Amino acid sequence: MKNLHLVLSLILISTATATAVAVDSESSSPTVCIIGSGIGGSSVAHFLRSYSSSAIGTIRIFERHDVVGGRMATVTIAGETFEAGASILHPKNYHALNYTKYLNLSVRQPPPSESDSSFGIWNGRDFVFKTLSSTSNLPIFQRVVSFANSVLIFFRYGFSLFRMNSFVDTTVNNFLKYYEGFESRPVFETVDEMLKWSGLYNLTTRTLQEELLDAGLSARLIQELVTVITRINYGQSISISGLAGAVSLAGSAQGLWSVEGGNRQMAVGLINQSDVKLHLNEEVESVSFIEQKYQLNTTKGKSYSCGITVVATPLDELKIQFLPGISIPERKLQHTYTTFIRGLINPAYFALGSVSEVPQLVGTVETPDVPFSSISVLKQHKDNDMSYKVFSRRPLDDAMLDQIFSVRNETVKIDWAAYPHYHAPEVFAPFILDSQHLYYVNAFENAASTMETSAVAAENIARLILSRLTGQKSLTPVKLKSFGDDAYDVHADL
Ligand SMILES: Cc1cc2nc3c(=O)[nH]c(=O)nc-3n(C[C@H](O)[C@H](O)[C@H](O)COP(=O)(O)OP(=O)(O)OC[C@H]3O[C@@H](n4cnc5c(N)ncnc54)[C@H](O)[C@@H]3O)c2cc1C
Ligand SMILES: *[C@@H]1O[C@H](CO)[C@@H](O)[C@H](O)[C@H]1NC(C)=O
Ligand SMILES: *[C@@H]1O[C@H](CO)[C@@H](O)[C@H](O)[C@H]1NC(C)=O
Ligand SMILES: *[C@@H]1O[C@H](CO)[C@@H](O)[C@H](O)[C@H]1NC(C)=O
Ligand SMILES: *[C@@H]1O[C@H](CO)[C@@H](O)[C@H](O)[C@H]1NC(C)=O
Ligand SMILES: *[C@@H]1O[C@H](CO)[C@@H](O)[C@H](O)[C@H]1NC(C)=O
Ligand SMILES: *[C@@H]1O[C@H](CO)[C@@H](O)[C@H](O)[C@H]1NC(C)=O
Repeated sequence: MKNLHLVLSLILISTATATAVAVDSESSSPTVCIIGSGIGGSSVAHFLRSYSSSAIGTIRIFERHDVVGGRMATVTIAGETFEAGASILHPKNYHALNYTKYLNLSVRQPPPSESDSSFGIWNGRDFVFKTLSSTSNLPIFQRVVSFANSVLIFFRYGFSLFRMNSFVDTTVNNFLKYYEGFESRPVFETVDEMLKWSGLYNLTTRTLQEELLDAGLSARLIQELVTVITRINYGQSISISGLAGAVSLAGSAQGLWSVEGGNRQMAVGLINQSDVKLHLNEEVESVSFIEQKYQLNTTKGKSYSCGITVVATPLDELKIQFLPGISIPERKLQHTYTTFIRGLINPAYFALGSVSEVPQLVGTVETPDVPFSSISVLKQHKDNDMSYKVFSRRPLDDAMLDQIFSVRNETVKIDWAAYPHYHAPEVFAPFILDSQHLYYVNAFENAASTMETSAVAAENIARLILSRLTGQKSLTPVKLKSFGDDAYDVHADL
């Protein structure tokens, strides 16, 4: 998708320094129990520790699986490791960038060959659009091909491309407000308030298609390129909300990156650095509010007493029992079936003569005839030995896979409860699930589901906890550490 050259301009937000206020040296600081060890849960722990050295006591993170990271996970096929879930980060995903730096992880940018990979749009019968592919390793030739592809794309979609670009830019720039300092950025008690403040709320009330038609995009661009992108990034059509759509389109920009060795290392590192008691393989079954405390019962038959509880996982498919009960709007999750294949694609399936004619990224339009959303080459090992990733809305059975692939030496299938099934207007669950100290990070996922949006929501929840905690317990607000350079120094004395 890098062929699109959606270069997003760099706008630096000046981060105001936070005012240090009186420290609340409360001796019996509450225990915080976090359900879920993904980027959301690990970020809550990180920001609680960064923003306060005394207001929070023990932090426990419960994870039902035996690994940290949730939807950030890796898969190993034929000895090679790839991202199995969340794979790409945007150059302006500043929390993720900071985590990477702070944890001494390395940024992985796709190699040039990958970023100039060929791309085609398949409608079940033909490729309605196909870029040229460079078979030469000479940089100059690759640049020519890449330029020719920009021209090809321009011929098909015209000035609408610029309108799409500016729609994405505006949205990304509004999102940057969430990195502002504490003086100018309030603590948000609801998702609605948080989105209204940055100017993003209206985009959740209408579909992407409505927004883009209003922005003057051609029907062809919306039905082809935009549809291809929303199908790849959210497994859904252009009837998702304008905001989820804009985020999805931003995910096809230039300069995308990932963490070398796996994005999940962000969660691993944040938990490691935040003085957390990590409970792996321990699923929380019930949360009961008794005598001003939450009692969490787990599958290990244990009970934990927590002053504060943070739900950092979507509740939609879970059976956690809440006493008293909670009420959140019904939300369906979109399942994305991710199939990894080591082998070779079958050009005959696409009515093509040779493997090299099949684009390295095959996108698809909305039609019932196509059983998958996208197929991409992850790595070319040899001419006749490749690794592929296939996304689909329904599981692909072996008979179907045998039509699409002529060789399959290894196949790994993952069924992800991937992200919300978006629809406009979105209705948001509350950040505060009771009127006490039960918080829900993933209420924000109806806006858009990405690693960065989880981190942004988590940062707000950490501030919300600290501000409400001190509001309830004493009149002196907690010292909120600066968001700037020294924010991370706190860890040194933990
Ligand atoms: C296939 C796929 C591709 C994606 N691509 C991208 C991408 O390219 N870029 C991007 O930014 N985002 C992408 N996303 C979205 C991204 O993965 C999520 O938005 C983000 O990782 C969510 O993080 P989280 O911490 O909120 O939730 P999760 O990562 O889901 O973490 C929740 C954790 O809670 C645990 N848990 C649940 N219930 C319990 C319980 N009762 N007790 C204890 N533990 C429990 C779960 O096991 C899980 O580990 C993708 C997602 C999928 C599925
Ligand atoms: C990262 O590297 C620096 C410098 O080598 C070191 O001081 C710091 O402790 C490291 N951080 C982590 C999380 O390993
Ligand atoms: C959002 O929509 C409302 C109602 O149509 C309008 O009054 C408001 O100006 C819009 N806000 C933004 C930021 O566009
Ligand atoms: C935790 O961080 C320390 C450095 O601060 C490092 O030595 C250790 O290996 C890390 N542990 C894990 C599990 O990453
Ligand atoms: C949780 O465990 C405690 C102690 O075993 C028990 O008394 C309580 O009834 C359990 N709560 C629920 C909701 O099952
Ligand atoms: C894949 O399987 C085919 C047929 O079984 C075999 O010839 C080939 O060597 C295998 N390739 C790899 C990379 O294992
Ligand atoms: C990232 O870190 C830099 C330097 O430490 C800081 O100035 C910036 O505010 C941080 N950004 C975020 C989003 O935390």
